[in-house]
Amino acid sequence: MNEPTYHVFPTPEAVATTAARLLVGEMQDALKARQACYVLLSGGTTPKLLYSKLREVGPRIAPLCRKAHYFIGDERTVARDHADSNTGQAEREFLDPLEIPAENRHFPDGAAEDLEEECDWITRDLRQLLPRNGDGNPMFDIEFLGVGADGHTASLFPGTEALKDPTPRYALNEVPTMNTRRITLTLPVLGAARHAILLVTGEAKAALISEILSLTPRAKKYPVEELAPLRQTWLLDEAAASRLSPEQRTRHLTPLEKAK
Ligand code: 6PG
Repeated sequence: MNEPTYHVFPTPEAVATTAARLLVGEMQDALKARQACYVLLSGGTTPKLLYSKLREVGPRIAPLCRKAHYFIGDERTVARDHADSNTGQAEREFLDPLEIPAENRHFPDGAAEDLEEECDWITRDLRQLLPRNGDGNPMFDIEFLGVGADGHTASLFPGTEALKDPTPRYALNEVPTMNTRRITLTLPVLGAARHAILLVTGEAKAALISEILSLTPRAKKYPVEELAPLRQTWLLDEAAASRLSPEQRTRHLTPLEKAK
């Protein structure tokens, strides 16, 4: 894996604009190189701005976007029409407006009667469709992820069972701190992506970012630090970078163009 690269932008909107540009570029490359493209969409609220930017240029990029297949990194155990549904958000704000074909949408039903069976079904779909990396794990071309203030990503929360699951799959994860269960991809899949793009905005993430971008050696301890995709690009806004010292900025932050 190449070392992650970290890039700061003035506003969440600038992060979203860059994320949209990266998505379109990676889609074009994947379709040109392999005539297929597999995209992992993120949960949480940060992707809302990305979807807004994609809608803004929707007519221009829709033909391209309709050629890709979409999965979600994690899903809450709610119905798709619930405000908390990650899939519902992606469909309402991106996939429906750009008229992405139903056969290109691969999402678990968070309100399924048997959530374990739902995880097994969507895992079969994932394994049948996606190419594999050297370890035999399903490999996304582009993987969007968010990060929580506690360092979780997808629904791999600190101390939860799915974080340790060595099987490349969707797992049903008990999250005691939130008194809920989540459907989430495990690290063998999240770590297999060709390019992971992490969208991190807001003051709530600033302490975590400053700790992760330490100037002195430290043991990795957050779930998001377990990720090891081929390429990891962190897009931060100034609020999320607000606790970085000038030295940390000089050491860790680069302009995006130089990250290629
Ligand atoms: C979810 C997630 C989760 C999210 C982070 C960041 O379902 O909530 O997938 O990992 O990406 O908690 O959330 P925000 O984007 O809302 O800050």
